[in-house]
Amino acid sequence: KGLHEEMSIPLYFGWFLLPTIQEKVRCTSMDFLKTLDTLEAFKKHMTDFAGGAEKEVDLEQYFKAKGNLHCTTKFCDYGRAQGAKEYAEKPVVNELYGSAFELSLTALFVTPRTVGARVSLSEEQLVLWPADAEKEAEAAVPGAASLALGSRAHVTLGCAEGVQPVQTGLDLLEILVLQQEGQQGELVEEMELGTLAYYGKGRWLLSLREPICVPACFSSGYR
Ligand code: A2P
Repeated sequence: KGLHEEMSIPLYFGWFLLPTIQEKVRCTSMDFLKTLDTLEAFKKHMTDFAGGAEKEVDLEQYFKAKGNLHCTTKFCDYGRAQGAKEYAEKPVVNELYGSAFELSLTALFVTPRTVGARVSLSEEQLVLWPADAEKEAEAAVPGAASLALGSRAHVTLGCAEGVQPVQTGLDLLEILVLQQEGQQGELVEEMELGTLAYYGKGRWLLSLREPICVPACFSSGYR
């Protein structure tokens, strides 16, 4: 009998970064925000973040951290979300529940709503990815449904006041749709961590030179 037939269905399933690595990722994210803040290119587009006002924005204050760092695979809403029960009952979900993985963070992105890290899933990790994760986002992000499986995978690093974490994956998809349409983004700067590009409307993507590999445990989250 599967583990989740005996337990209530969680709020969400996902990979949870180990505590020591969470600190490291948070530091990298903070350093990035600190640097971005000081770039002339960022200041030029600052009004994206200030609701059109010409005021200074301190990105480190602008985003609020949201609990444990993790990469959601399936948001279940305690069974209320579509496909929640099916996902919780999948043999592979039960088999791999509690196992250790290594996630590869390949980019950091910032929008006026969220800051996050893109996760590039391996074949082995994609077996835990719901087939409709990108399609579900189509209404919010036109074009998302045609992106590769796993495109939405991310770690939410922070949200602006009043913004829910679900927005982070949508913001990532928005950037990936633009890329798929052939937009490279405006190359802004070679930074120590990688290449920074601007995609308009306050959307910034830092493609990491070296992926950040983080140990993570496949498990579930409650509140
Ligand atoms: P994310 O994975 O981007 O961090 P909340 O705290 O808002 O209830 O959400 C719990 C977790 O589930 C968060 O990690 C959140 O976003 C994710 N999440 C919330 N709603 C959805 C949704 N509709 N689709 C996918 N993921 C969601």
